[in-house]
Amino acid sequence: MLDKVEFVAGSDDEKSRHDRVAFRASVIAGLSADQKTLECKYLYDDLGSDLFDQICDLPEYYPTRTELGILETATPEIARMVGSRAELVELGSGASRKTRLLLSAFDTPSLYVPVDISADYMMDVAEQLRGEYPTLNVEPVVADFIAPFELPKKSGKGNRLLFFPGSTIGNLHRAEAAEFLRSLATSSDADYFVIGVDLKKDTAILEAAYDDAAGVTAAFNLNLLRRINRELGANFDLDRFKHKAVYNEVEGRVEMHLVSRTAQNVSVGDCEFEFGKGETIHSENSYKYGLNEFADMAKAAGWRSEQVWTDPDTLFAVFLLAAPRP
Ligand code: AVJ
Repeated sequence: MLDKVEFVAGSDDEKSRHDRVAFRASVIAGLSADQKTLECKYLYDDLGSDLFDQICDLPEYYPTRTELGILETATPEIARMVGSRAELVELGSGASRKTRLLLSAFDTPSLYVPVDISADYMMDVAEQLRGEYPTLNVEPVVADFIAPFELPKKSGKGNRLLFFPGSTIGNLHRAEAAEFLRSLATSSDADYFVIGVDLKKDTAILEAAYDDAAGVTAAFNLNLLRRINRELGANFDLDRFKHKAVYNEVEGRVEMHLVSRTAQNVSVGDCEFEFGKGETIHSENSYKYGLNEFADMAKAAGWRSEQVWTDPDTLFAVFLLAAPRP
C-alpha cells in the first residue's frame, strides 16, 4: 500500500513537470503564429472548470439544458436498445447528471468507465456512483480521450454504449472530428454510441451563447491569460484584453478570441510577444453541424445512424449510432 502511494506521488510530480513543459511549448508556439492562438484545453484549470459549470446554467447558453431535455426523452429508447447488463463508457466525465439519467434507466448496468484527463474530479464522481449503484463496477480511465487510449476489456455480459455528450466534439476541426469518429468505430469496442452535437442556427443565438450578458464566458476566456501568468511566469494585463465571440459562417464555427485593447508587449518567461491594437488571440473553436451533415460524417466513419433526437427549436441533436457489423 505504502509502495503504491509513493509511486503515485512520484509519478504525479513527474506528470505535472511534463504538463508544465508541454503547456509552455504550446503557448510559445501559439503566440508566435501569425494569427496568435492558444489551445482551448488549457481553459480548464480549477477556476476555468468552475466558470464552465456556471456557463452551463446561463440563460444564453442553451446547449446543456437542451441536451438534458433531449436525453430525458431519448433515454428509455436508448436503454431498450442497449439492453440489460450494459457497459457505459463516457468520454469526459463532467456531466454526472446525464450519466445518472442513463444509468438509472438501464436494466442492471454492469460497468461504468468515465474517461477524463483530470483525475481528481473523476475519482470523486466515481466514488459517489459506487455508493449509488452498488452492483455497478466503476473503472475510471485517466486519459486524454482525443488521443488513442486503452479501455477495459468487454465483459461480454452486455452491450457497450459509448457516451460523448455536451457537443465537445465541436472543439475539433471538421476533419479531426471525422477522424476521431473513425478511430472510435474501430477501436472502442462499442456496440452503440450516443453523441450530443450542437447545430447550426442564427448567428445572434450563437454569439449570445458565447458572450453572455453576465460576463461569465468573458471571465472564462480571460482566465486563460491569468493561468499563463501564474503557471508560466507571464505578465498579461487582463484589463488590456477583452473577450470576443464571433460566428464564422464560412467555417460553421463560433470562435472565441482575446482582443488586445492597445498596442502592447507581453512576456512569457523570457519570450517577448508584441500585440497590435485590436490584434486577437484565437482561444477556442466550437463547430456547429447540420443534422444531415453530421449523420453523413458518422456514416463515412463507419457508424450506422439508428436514431436522432432534437428539441422543438432544433438547437441541439443527440445521435444514437450503432457500430459497424463485424
Ligand atoms: C465544452 C466545448 C462544448 O463549445 O460550447 C462554452 C465550451 N466555451 N462556452 C462549447 C465553451 C465557451 C463548450 N464545449
